[in-house]
Amino acid sequence: MIQLKEADKRWLEDFFSKLDTKLSRSAMELTDILPGGIDEHGKYVGVKNPCWWTNGFFGGMMWLMYQETGKEIYKNAAEKQELLLDAGLEKYDGLHHDVGFMWGLTAKSSYRITENLQSRVRAIYAANILAARYNIRGNYISAWNGDKKTYSIIDCMMNVPLLYWAAEELDRKSFRFIAEAHADMTMREHIREDGSVVHIAVHNDEKDEVIETLGGQGYGVGSAWSRGQAWAVYGFMLSYLHTGLDRYLETARRAADYFLEKAKETDYRVRTDFCAPPEPVYYDTSAAVCAACGILELYKATGEQKYLDGALALIKAVEQDCDFTENTQSVLQNGMESYRSGKQVHLIYADFFLCEALLKLKNSTFLIW
Ligand code: GLY
Repeated sequence: MIQLKEADKRWLEDFFSKLDTKLSRSAMELTDILPGGIDEHGKYVGVKNPCWWTNGFFGGMMWLMYQETGKEIYKNAAEKQELLLDAGLEKYDGLHHDVGFMWGLTAKSSYRITENLQSRVRAIYAANILAARYNIRGNYISAWNGDKKTYSIIDCMMNVPLLYWAAEELDRKSFRFIAEAHADMTMREHIREDGSVVHIAVHNDEKDEVIETLGGQGYGVGSAWSRGQAWAVYGFMLSYLHTGLDRYLETARRAADYFLEKAKETDYRVRTDFCAPPEPVYYDTSAAVCAACGILELYKATGEQKYLDGALALIKAVEQDCDFTENTQSVLQNGMESYRSGKQVHLIYADFFLCEALLKLKNSTFLIW
């Protein structure tokens, strides 16, 4: 249970009420697209590729809001999103490890909340697709298709919760064993001694061997891309919450300590890469709010005040990046897809994690993962 000071409670109520007003409007406006992207004016746009990894975030956010407010507009919007996502399942060939983000947030939530059996089927299909990407010799879930090389990426720690759920739902331990094997490989190969995180590892697909590591969406090889760092903080916390294994809690703690130490240097405005040169200055608000979600779970698990203070500092620092006007549909600005893009943009998942972080502060008990 999170206990906030009176002033923080008032701040939170005001913040959440503005978010609710803005998202209610989006829920009514966006009935026929999967708003996986956001244009330069902050309007949601449909992504042409039905397999695009961000396609489940709007639906997931609608379920979060429905759980908190009970408003039917959110439920209706979430259910429409799930139907639109079927085009991705039907295409199949374009699918990748991010089926966890896509159907874990949408179909799995729908089944858990409404007991819709068709949603259960979709979530189980997605879990099977994810499990089948496990390379039994290399001990990793392969991220992508269509390249001679095979990769594991830190982001996948946010996809494996779908496997923990499927293990319980189907009473089939193999899903959990795959999730744990992947998490253990990630602990070994993606988390450095100082708690910073490697985005991409290139694997030998015949045996348990990492050939090289890559900087991916961060500044470069050996750097610390802040969203990758956030995926590790929250991803390992989620593995801990699903398994109770202390090694995942300790890994989340190491990644979080690194994140908070670096974020403090810039008053908790989170840079896109913690190891990039001081200029140009790029921020990534999506990293800040995703990390805040993991750090709030870390606070609940350990009771250590520094984690509540750190998460609050991160969330308060992104307030200046929020747009609650009617000019835009999205809320959080100053996200960044990758360091090399050189562009500060709106990101659908930044809004999702902002919403989730505020609900955690409000002591919502619904863990969507
Ligand atoms: N999963 C891709 C990204 O974080 O941008």
